[in-house]
Amino acid sequence: MNTELSRRDFLKAAASGAAGLAVAGVLGGSAFAEEPAAEGAPFAGKKKFAGIGSVRAVTDDIAYIGVSDRRIQLFENVYPIPRGVAYNSYLLLDEKTVLFDTVDRSVTGQFFENLTAVLDGRELDYLVVDHMEPDHSSAISEVLVRYPKAQVVCTHAAAIILNQFFACDIADRAILVGEGDTLNVGKHTLTFVMAPMVHWPEVMMTYDDVSGILFSADAFGSFGALNGNLFADEVDFEKDWLPDARRYYTNIVGKYGKQVQDVLAKAGTVDIKMLCPTHGPVWRENLGWILEKYSLWSSYTPEEQAVMVVYGSVYGGTESAANAIAAKISQSGVADVAVYDVSKTHVSELIAEAFRCSHIVLASITYNMGIFTPMKNFLLDLEAHNLQNRCFALVENGSWSPLSGKLMKEILERLTNVSFVGETVTIFSSPDADKREALDALAEAVAGSVLGGGEPVAEQAPAAATAWVCSVCGYIYEGEELPDDFVCPVCGVGPDKFELK
Ligand code: FEO
Repeated sequence: MNTELSRRDFLKAAASGAAGLAVAGVLGGSAFAEEPAAEGAPFAGKKKFAGIGSVRAVTDDIAYIGVSDRRIQLFENVYPIPRGVAYNSYLLLDEKTVLFDTVDRSVTGQFFENLTAVLDGRELDYLVVDHMEPDHSSAISEVLVRYPKAQVVCTHAAAIILNQFFACDIADRAILVGEGDTLNVGKHTLTFVMAPMVHWPEVMMTYDDVSGILFSADAFGSFGALNGNLFADEVDFEKDWLPDARRYYTNIVGKYGKQVQDVLAKAGTVDIKMLCPTHGPVWRENLGWILEKYSLWSSYTPEEQAVMVVYGSVYGGTESAANAIAAKISQSGVADVAVYDVSKTHVSELIAEAFRCSHIVLASITYNMGIFTPMKNFLLDLEAHNLQNRCFALVENGSWSPLSGKLMKEILERLTNVSFVGETVTIFSSPDADKREALDALAEAVAGSVLGGGEPVAEQAPAAATAWVCSVCGYIYEGEELPDDFVCPVCGVGPDKFELK
């Protein structure tokens, strides 16, 4: 067998920082629709895979063998997913057989039915682990038992964390890879692209030179079960999937914008024809559209000049103020104002909307001499997800000692590159005539800013270089100074192995 592991100068251009998203202009449709498999191809005569679970052909010799979970209520035991979620896995049949990632333990029955059927009696030679978070790796132990000759291709950090989670020691069957390493499996040569902290430290992506597929781990993924339609061009993605794709990205990966930007710069240097993520639809057409979304989200640039109004209210006074502001903003010519009750809306929805909108109006009661608890939770989550470059307007309410405006501002001022529109409006229990005038004035200021006639929207600022990267495993320490006695929690090396990012 012509199998070898070698290092080559893959993505040299990326190191020079060239190209970036210029790739969007050259990425077009691909020739990878489910055309009949070529005579003699591994899938010849099986292109529809009728009767084989959730299997779909991705190319002539790469099959989708992932599984959707429609029973799950909370992803990561945090995020409501009423549309379910897909755990994507792919199988390449070349001179060697290669499995790309596995699935969550909840769906292993269907997964092994798929895998067994597509292998059709062949051995599994390699398991590539692009991301070992348990929603993709909790079936690995069983794969290794069922296919004792399979070798595991992963990063050093992935091998360590895999063992931590599952007591799964792969030392005697692991091929540890780093940036630009390649693996030839016959006609196909796979190249491994490191993507640390997108969104775990061990993440890598795999590029297949024959198909032009980038197996992109969680990047370009989405909440939502796949209902037979595998490809993004087989669904109305913008209408039916974009909100969940945005909510998935912003909540799961949103904190790591700089790391995503680094990977997008690398992606801009190779001819990607298809994006195969570990969740959600596969992209084979119009890749520039989803890449542009990722460029906006990861640079914390508002996706739209739009307003969201979020209120926290107990007896209705603050809710009335929020409604009045929303109506006035709309009457001033701003379309699609979005209003949310912070107590009734899951915070993951609010985070996603905050990444979409340029302007955010916050109205909160004072509670226990602080910010209303659900509102405070939302603001701290905004900070945790590193939101930047937004305009805020504030309304506070307190029946005897209104403090929430001052306290909300203290949290928001910790975000990068935010500005405030108008004067904070202070309400005592419910807005009287004077306060309604003040609310009108605030709404007009917000509308003016959105429409470009008022206070300018904060300009985008580059993310500060305050991260240190472990040169051994890719772990990222966030902070301006790396402590002298710091020890990498993943691979155990000291500060001399860290480089300023
Ligand atoms: Fe889908 Fe980060 O696991």
